[in-house]
Amino acid sequence: MTNITTDRILILDFGSQYSQLITRRVREAGVYSEMYAYDASDEEIRAFAPKGIILSGGPESVYADNGPKIPQSVFELGVPVLGICYGFQAMTAQLGGEVVAGTVKEFGHAKIDIVAQDRLLVDVADTQNQSQVWMSHGDKVSRLADGFITTSSTPSCPFASASDEDRRFYGVQFHPEVTHSDKGEVLISNFVHGICGCGNAWNKESIIELRVKQLREQIGDNQVLLGLSGGVDSSVVAALLHRAIGDKLTCVFVDNGLLRLNEGDQVMQMFAENMGIRVIRADAENRFLTALAGVTDPEQKRKIIGREFIEVFSEEARKLDGVKFLAQGTIYPDVIESAKSKHGKAHVIKSHHNVGGLPDDLAFELVEPLRDLFKDEVRQLGVALGIPAHMIYRHPFPGPGLGVRILGEVKKEYADILRLADDIFMQELRASGWYDKTAQAFAVFQPVKSVGVVGDGRRYAWVIALRAVETVDFMTARFAHLPYELVDKISTRIMNEITDVSRVVYDVSSKPPATIEWE
Ligand code: XMP
Repeated sequence: MTNITTDRILILDFGSQYSQLITRRVREAGVYSEMYAYDASDEEIRAFAPKGIILSGGPESVYADNGPKIPQSVFELGVPVLGICYGFQAMTAQLGGEVVAGTVKEFGHAKIDIVAQDRLLVDVADTQNQSQVWMSHGDKVSRLADGFITTSSTPSCPFASASDEDRRFYGVQFHPEVTHSDKGEVLISNFVHGICGCGNAWNKESIIELRVKQLREQIGDNQVLLGLSGGVDSSVVAALLHRAIGDKLTCVFVDNGLLRLNEGDQVMQMFAENMGIRVIRADAENRFLTALAGVTDPEQKRKIIGREFIEVFSEEARKLDGVKFLAQGTIYPDVIESAKSKHGKAHVIKSHHNVGGLPDDLAFELVEPLRDLFKDEVRQLGVALGIPAHMIYRHPFPGPGLGVRILGEVKKEYADILRLADDIFMQELRASGWYDKTAQAFAVFQPVKSVGVVGDGRRYAWVIALRAVETVDFMTARFAHLPYELVDKISTRIMNEITDVSRVVYDVSSKPPATIEWE
């Protein structure tokens, strides 16, 4: 039986920071792909039945002791193989060519001269027969393996790309998967479509159709429970499950009192009223605030919020009859990351039960319909399922919510002030077009008082900090260089409209050494 994942490409990961990106680019070309660690067994590779294999880059040297080797089956399956950077070097060395240690590392933009046209480089050359690419390597190929010809070169890299069209083996020293390579997308499309012969069945409509069918098969007439947070992943799971199984889905939305202004009402309106999904709202503000009273340590606060969530969620779950499945918004990068840290391999991890740490009496089977999807794909699915774009493209919001944005002890009074300040900040970011130019932005409550002057009076009130960052991966970030006029407008509005705030400051710390959240 064929389905949208029958045409599939295997990415073997040799440890490059771009490996996941290759996997995503192949999917963007409309072809299903998965990433396995380079030391996948021959059986696993054969069982995956790829139409083509891409070998990623990696930090090692081909000649290093125990340098990662390409599994033999890659060359024996009879499918096309594309080696990128380290993948090209390892392929060359294993097929009888030579690689030398680069005396200088080449890093950055380069222009390749296309010297022979093969199927990989169709429509890659500009009018000068060149193409702009991104290089990032130390070692390089010094002699091609038998059967290969050079297809492009640069002054410092004579074998920028090469191919053996008979065996359908291809190698590139540059990185077509990064956007700095002008025609990288064309090259990847040439490989997966032109060379491997894959169709383009992998798209949001077909993913939804397939997933709905799979969910119906898995769930049958049983009931499913989902913890809905209003974040992107759980929202898309809710919409997808609703489409698949309708009222056999029950969502529990825990309002912990640490959400943004009107957020609880918005979640209910969106899912319960507009989409007709059964959502139980557990109003647990008092309970969370009571548990947090007197606690100032950030990690302790996180633990308490996590524990209370599980308890409230469990209580609601126990009130429901006959629930067999628990749905979760696990996505593919979570799977890859958790697998890597435990086993060093992305594909051996299997879902285990009750990942959320639920008590033993609540043993559900897991439903994880986003488990093989990247965040971009999840967002596209969300929009296609009718969730408004402003919800899907929102900045991330941490699980502990305002609990880690109120420094020290959390109090309702502080949360109420913070919500108003944060809302003004968001309104102005959206109005000025800066919301989409920042990766994350929020207000932080400082439990210190500062003197201000209003009219003839003195005001002794709280301090609000504004935080806005630019980042792609959230591992490093720089503070957003918001225009002073905008910061001025936001701070003036906050101090004028919230009488309990006498001062606003802007956080100019980058990560590292600071973190994005203040706690
Ligand atoms: P930091 O503060 O570590 O934040 O630079 C990086 C990203 O992680 C988010 N974050 C959290 N998300 N639970 C979450 O769900 C947490 O406890 C938590 N702490 C930080 C943060 O908002 C940022 O996007």
